[in-house]
Amino acid sequence: MQINLQIFENGASVSYAVAELIKEKVKATPDGQFLTIAVSGGTTPRLLFELLGNEYEKSIDWKKVRIFWVDERCVNPTDRESNFGMTYDAFLQKSIVPGENIFRMRGEEIPEFEAERYRELLRKELPARFGYPVFDLILLGMGNDGHTASIFPGDLSLIDSELAVAATQNPYTQQKRITLTGNTINNANQIVFIITGESKSQLIKEIIQNAPQAKYYPAAHIVNPKGKVDFYIDKAAATKL
Ligand code: 6PG
Repeated sequence: MQINLQIFENGASVSYAVAELIKEKVKATPDGQFLTIAVSGGTTPRLLFELLGNEYEKSIDWKKVRIFWVDERCVNPTDRESNFGMTYDAFLQKSIVPGENIFRMRGEEIPEFEAERYRELLRKELPARFGYPVFDLILLGMGNDGHTASIFPGDLSLIDSELAVAATQNPYTQQKRITLTGNTINNANQIVFIITGESKSQLIKEIIQNAPQAKYYPAAHIVNPKGKVDFYIDKAAATKL
């Protein structure tokens, strides 16, 4: 596995770097085609979304971008916990991205049915490779326990699931979740972890140095078909490296 590690001053500079990456990828997308991005929730990407809605409103041709979700908490879209809700507040409500280019996971539906609907939607909207949908870019976060998407350490079977999208739950809060599985994430052309803060520095060190315990962390099982994964982190998250 080849980890492309990029260390930036702080969360804002990490967000700028990811925004620039998106801008370059949209530029490289031929007219008539789309750049498909799956985004994560949690707190880390909020800065990026705000930046995209402000400074990158004009410099990115948003008509060419289609936005999907890596995972969703099974709550209403207006709930404070909703990943879509956070992205909407920070960015999408500005209507820069055309509504028909936004493909949210419906957290308010019955999780198993919604996972099935989303699998079908991805089958229809995206190209396939090895039997799984192919995203151009997947943006991931990592929890303090090494989880990514809604794939938690106790459920590593979701890394190699035959389903492209699954219903699951957060083992700490029992909150139901819908998530892309590892085979779908690992099928993307590019995968970028956005990680900030010192609390994650020990885990990052173990993953990058391939420590024996890293095998229990879902985040350590993420790699694209070319064997590559990008880590965009801030100095605080790099303190143990
Ligand atoms: C979610 C996620 C999750 C998240 C990590 C990091 O819905 O909770 O998509 O995988 O990316 O938990 O979350 P923070 O950015 O809040 O640390």
